[in-house]
Amino acid sequence: MRRHQVNEYGFWAIGLHWLIALLIFGLLGLGFIMRRTAIDPALQFSLYQWHKSVGLVVLGLAALNGLHWLAARHPAPVPTLGPIERRASLATHLALALLCLVVPVAGWTVASTTPLNIPTFFFELVVIPPLPLGRSEAGEDFWSLVHASTAYLLLALAALHVAAALYHHFVRHDEVLLRMLGRKGPQGGNVRLASPAPQPAPREGRKQ
Ligand code: HEM
Ligand code: HEM
Repeated sequence: MRRHQVNEYGFWAIGLHWLIALLIFGLLGLGFIMRRTAIDPALQFSLYQWHKSVGLVVLGLAALNGLHWLAARHPAPVPTLGPIERRASLATHLALALLCLVVPVAGWTVASTTPLNIPTFFFELVVIPPLPLGRSEAGEDFWSLVHASTAYLLLALAALHVAAALYHHFVRHDEVLLRMLGRKGPQGGNVRLASPAPQPAPREGRKQ
C-alpha cells in the first residue's frame, strides 16, 4: 500500500476522492432528473430510493475521508503555488469536504420531515430510521430548500475546483492534478509536460 509522503497523496486519499467525486456527480444528475421530470411514479419511487441509498453511502465515505484527513500525514502544497492560491485552495477544499457532509444530512432531514412518511430502504436491504424530527409540510419545504441549495452550491464549487485542476495541468504544467492521480513529478518542482528543458547554446568556435 502507498503511504503518505511529503509530496504525494496516499492510496486512501486518492481512492476516496475519486469515488466520492464520481458518486456526487451521479447524485446531482439523478436528483435533478427525479425531482424535475414527469416520470412513471413507480420509476420515480425507485429513483428516489437509489438517490437516498447512494447519498447515504456518500455521507459514510465523506465522514471516513474527514477522519482520514485528520489522522494521516498530509502532503504539503505544491511549491509553485503562491500564498493566495494556497489559501484559496485550502478554503475550497474545506468547503467541498464540509458540503459532502451537509448535503446528505440535509437530504436525510427531508426524508425525515416529509408528511408522506415514505421509508428509506437502503439498497432494499434495511430500512434507515428517520432522524428524530417532527413531520410537517413547512419542515419538508424548508429542508428541501436547504438540500437543493447546498447541493447546487456544491456543484458550483466543484466546477470551480475542476477548472482550477485543469488550469494547473494544462496551463501551469505543475503537479497539482498528477498528485491526485497518484503520479508524481520531480520532487517539489514543475512537471513540464510538453516542452523539453532548454539546452545551453554551443559556444562559438568551439569544436564538439
Ligand atoms: C451528496 C449527496 C447528495 C446530493 C449531491 C444530492 C443532490 C440532490 C439534488 C440535486 C436534488 C434535486 C434538488 C432540486 O432540484 O430540487 C435532490 C433531491 C432530493 N434528495 Fe438528495 N442529494 C444527496 C443526498 C441525499 C440523501 C442522503 C438523501 C436522503 C437520505 C436525499 C434525499 C433527497 C430527496 C428526498 C430529494 C427530493 C427533495 C424534494 O422533493 O424537494 N439526498 N438531491
Ligand atoms: C464533487 C466532486 C469533488 C469533490 C467534492 C472534491 C473534493 C476535493 C477535496 C476535499 C480535496 C482536498 C483533498 C485533501 O487535501 O486531502 C480535493 C483535492 C483535489 N481535487 Fe477534488 N473534488 C471533486 C472533484 C474533482 C475533480 C473532477 C477533479 C479533476 C478534474 C479534482 C481534482 C482535484 C485535485 C487535483 C486535488 C488536489 C489539489 C491539491 O493538491 O492542491 N477534484 N478535492
